[in-house]
Amino acid sequence: MLGTVTRKVLKTILSDTARQRILTVERVHREGGLFDADSIFYRCVGTVVTWGTGSRVRSGPFAGMRYIQHALGVHSSAYCPKLLGTYEQELHPLVEALRTGHPYVHVINIGAGEGYYAIGFARCLPQSWVTAYEADAESRVILGRMAEINGVAPRLTIRESCTPSGLQAAMAQPGKTLIVCDVEGAEQELLDPVAIPALTRADILVELHDFLIPGISGVIRKRFENTHQITEIPALPRQLADWPSSLSLPKVYRRTALSEYRPGGMCWFWMKAAGNAVLAVAHAD
Ligand SMILES: C[S@@+](CC[C@H](N)C(=O)[O-])C[C@H]1O[C@@H](n2cnc3c(N)ncnc32)[C@H](O)[C@@H]1O
Repeated sequence: MLGTVTRKVLKTILSDTARQRILTVERVHREGGLFDADSIFYRCVGTVVTWGTGSRVRSGPFAGMRYIQHALGVHSSAYCPKLLGTYEQELHPLVEALRTGHPYVHVINIGAGEGYYAIGFARCLPQSWVTAYEADAESRVILGRMAEINGVAPRLTIRESCTPSGLQAAMAQPGKTLIVCDVEGAEQELLDPVAIPALTRADILVELHDFLIPGISGVIRKRFENTHQITEIPALPRQLADWPSSLSLPKVYRRTALSEYRPGGMCWFWMKAAGNAVLAVAHAD
C-alpha cells in the first residue's frame, strides 16, 4: 500500500504516534472504510501528494504555481487534483486559449476559494488586474498567503462576499473583463444582466450547480443567449490514465487523489460576449 520511499519518509520525519496513526488509517482504508474529501485518509494522501509535487502544481495551464499545505482541508478545496494539475481539466483547452490570446484588463474570480483560478490567472496574465471574491474568511487568509508566495499580491484584490451591487461597481472600469464564477448556486443571483448590465460585455466562465438550484443552467442560458456565444462544457469522471506521468505514487492512492468528488451531470458554460471575436474552444466531449 504505502510505497517504500513513502514509508522511509514517514519514518524519518514523523513521530512514532503520528506514523502509527497513518498506518492505522491505511489499514482501515484497505478494509473498505468510506472516505471523502474531508477525511483523515484524504489528508494523508494530500500530504503524500504535497511531498511528491514539492507543493507546486505539477501539470496543466497553471503548472508551477506554488501551494501551501494549509489549503489542504479548506472548504471545497479539491487540494490533490489542484496540485496534480488535473483539477477541472475539462477547462484546460479554454484556459490555455485565454492565457495566450486575450488581453483582459480585469479578471474577476467570484468564489475564489484559496485562489487556484485567481492566482493562476494572475500568474499567466501578467498585464491583468485580478479581483477575488471569497465569502469564507479562512479561505481568504490562505488566498492572501498564496498570492504572496506566487508574487502576484500587488495585482490581486481580495474581497469578501460578492453582491450584485458590488459586482456592478467592480465592473465599472473600462477594458475587457473576464469573470470566473463558482459560487455553489449563488450564480442565480449574481449572473443577472438585468441587475448588472455590465455583464453583457464581459466574457464569463461559470460552473453551474443544477444539483443545488434545479434548472439554473437553463435560466443562465436564457439570460445570456442574446448577448453571448455559449459553449457548454460537461464535467467528466476522472480516469487513472489522467494521472500525470511525471509523478510516481502507489496506484491505490491515485483514484482518491484524482477525485473531485463531483455529483454527476455537472457542467460549465463558457459565455463569450458577442461583441468580441468568437473563440473556438476545443474540449473533450
Ligand atoms: C466550490 S468553492 C469554489 C472554489 C474555487 N472556484 C476553486 O475552484 O478552487 C465555492 C466558493 O464560493 C464561495 N462563495 C459562495 N458564495 C459566494 C459569494 N456570494 N461571494 C463570494 N464567494 C462566495 C464559497 O465560500 C466557496 O469557497
